[in-house]
Amino acid sequence: MARPAPQDVATIACVGGGTIGAGWAACFLAHGKDVVMSDPGPDAEAKARAVIDQAWPHLEGLGLAGGASRDRFCFVGSVAEAVGDADLVQESAPEREDLKIALFAEMDEHARPDTVLASSSSAFLPSHLQSKCKRPERVVIGHPFAPSYLMPLVEVVAGEATAPETVAWSRDFYETVGKRSVVLKKEIEGYIANRFQMVVFEEALRLVENGICDWEAIDLSITEGPGLRWPFLGSLSTNHLAGGKGGLQHAIDMWGWQGNEESRASALASVDERFGHVPMAELEAWRDDNLMRLIKGRRAVPARPK
Ligand SMILES: NC(=O)c1ccc[n+]([C@@H]2O[C@H](COP(=O)([O-])OP(=O)(O)OC[C@H]3O[C@@H](n4cnc5c(N)ncnc54)[C@H](O)[C@@H]3O)[C@@H](O)[C@H]2O)c1
Repeated sequence: MARPAPQDVATIACVGGGTIGAGWAACFLAHGKDVVMSDPGPDAEAKARAVIDQAWPHLEGLGLAGGASRDRFCFVGSVAEAVGDADLVQESAPEREDLKIALFAEMDEHARPDTVLASSSSAFLPSHLQSKCKRPERVVIGHPFAPSYLMPLVEVVAGEATAPETVAWSRDFYETVGKRSVVLKKEIEGYIANRFQMVVFEEALRLVENGICDWEAIDLSITEGPGLRWPFLGSLSTNHLAGGKGGLQHAIDMWGWQGNEESRASALASVDERFGHVPMAELEAWRDDNLMRLIKGRRAVPARPK
């Protein structure tokens, strides 16, 4: 049986059903898919169902696809049973490279020849994970973010032996289940977003350990500062708006550019392509409107019991 078009995927195997695997299952169920899960852990089925139940009201809040139901979840006793009839396999086993390499070989043996085998790994090179597969061309990283039933970003990463069609198919598939796919041009450990997170956390550690501030100041410096803009402005676009009416060019004139000439030119071209059609005053109003909604919409941490 040939690989279905991304929008026609009906059955997904979730191999590994912990925090991320069960979250994926909830996301897929909410998009009207059938989900078959395997996980050798104690009480794995009950734990996965509890995650799905916890996620469901939030997924209902976002809007369920027609036919979406938690009854379309089933738990089986082996990897072979889980993947045998799947249109996509999403692996979310523990982050151990030897375990994942062996698991991919097993999934490769039992899945239909065209089925894409995607890994939720947070860091490993796909070239390693596919190294013991007979059909490595269908192996790819599809790295989500916790909670995987809500967070849109999925990083799609190819290994040396991954076929370009596998990457394109995976990118398109994730978009059909409410995700935003970002495809890396080449593989690197930790991919993109976790590398950002690591840099920020390492700097936070340095600031605290050097007595510059405490942990609450670290968190507030993100949640009340740049983090509040990050839901709609990334690293580059933040600088475009920081440049006022002159945009990114003015920001560069003021603060300089740390990178090389090529990255400066591609940055200016990128903001022009994405924002150039919007007058700066309108872009600022869009930013302010988003900030106002975020500030009003945030809920405080539940109060400590008295
Ligand atoms: N937790 C996160 O924030 C996060 C975010 C993105 C990606 N990831 C990645 O997702 C993967 C899973 O992480 P998690 O946080 O869900 O871990 P977890 O410990 O919550 O779940 C792992 C599950 O895998 C099961 N398992 C153990 N051996 C297995 C095997 N041989 N085959 C199938 N399942 C097996 C365990 O019983 C457990 O239920 C890891 O690769 C991790 O790096 C985690």
